[in-house]
Amino acid sequence: MNLGNGLSQETTVHWHGMVVPTAADGHPKDAVTPGGNYLYQYTINQRAALNWYHPHPHMITGEQVCLGLAGAFIVNDQEETALGLPSGVHEVPLIVRDASLDRTGNLRYHSRTTGFLGDIPLVNGTRDPYLNVDTALYRFRVLNGANSRVFLLALGNGAQFHLIGNDGGLLATKATIGQIEFGNGERLDLLVDFRGLSVGTKVMLRDLNSGWDLLEFRVARSVTDTTPIPTTLSSVVPLSNPVRTRAFSFDGMSKINGLAYDMNRIDFQVPFGQTERWRFQTGGNAPHPVHVHGASFQVQSRSGGRGVVFPWEGGWKDTVLLLDGETVEVLIRFEGYRGMYLLHCHKLEHEDMGMMSNFQVV
Ligand code: C2O
Ligand code: CU
Ligand code: CU
Repeated sequence: MNLGNGLSQETTVHWHGMVVPTAADGHPKDAVTPGGNYLYQYTINQRAALNWYHPHPHMITGEQVCLGLAGAFIVNDQEETALGLPSGVHEVPLIVRDASLDRTGNLRYHSRTTGFLGDIPLVNGTRDPYLNVDTALYRFRVLNGANSRVFLLALGNGAQFHLIGNDGGLLATKATIGQIEFGNGERLDLLVDFRGLSVGTKVMLRDLNSGWDLLEFRVARSVTDTTPIPTTLSSVVPLSNPVRTRAFSFDGMSKINGLAYDMNRIDFQVPFGQTERWRFQTGGNAPHPVHVHGASFQVQSRSGGRGVVFPWEGGWKDTVLLLDGETVEVLIRFEGYRGMYLLHCHKLEHEDMGMMSNFQVV
């Protein structure tokens, strides 16, 4: 992928969820100046998943993402294809975010230390959207592309979601669930069953946190669809026996373990190929969606706050939501590449203020 920077600011492209060499990771030290170019090259060699890309320049990531520089892409593999999940017009990506508009209808950004919160929701960049659906099983590939907003997704008719995957691809088994709390940077793979509804029925996808209507499904066409909802989805090999534990405290709005980000400082070194336990904790100023570059992890436990690991936190994750007073432990192993990667809060305003750390896989 060749990036030509036509902005008046520096920028990079980070491939969130992709395991790529450091030089292709969009690190802020590799910022492309206005008018410059950068060639991102990597081999895609990982599980099927919905991943995304967004800028990662030092201190201006929030502004660039909020003003629209982000997108998603789907990686497929044979394990997933064999399941015969809904595809074609019955597989729909949904990028959910909030936004503020100026008088002329352009996106507007205000940095706030507590995180940007817009006044309206957008789905795939569309205001007050609807989707005509068949009486069929649908697969929705959902990304929370907001700067800082946490959505609590539910269907207005009380129907349940069939949760089949998240950041790192398919879960081991399906979970059927009515409400899903969904932090920015996280992804969901959801089956929604419109079979049995009559033409003319409307079903609203809602955010119960803000009370917003996000997307209206309008049942428009009656079809016969016998696609099964699989229960067993994927083999997820559990990580185990960590060789060490590292603790990371997300402090205030701009620090990890007491330090604000310094592009030229490497905060710790991680041996290649070893399983480690990482403990993320915070006292306050949450939500802090904690994100790691260079590897996915498996969530082990949450104490304090909500106190449980949710079904959408199974399998492989690259972003996990910390609310006030929570401690979350994950197991992680870097086996893609050696080099420098990032650990940070994905609330983009916290990231921009310094809640980010460089580490080196050695
Ligand atoms: Cu989605 Cu370091 O980023
Ligand atoms: Cu990332
Ligand atoms: Cu944060």
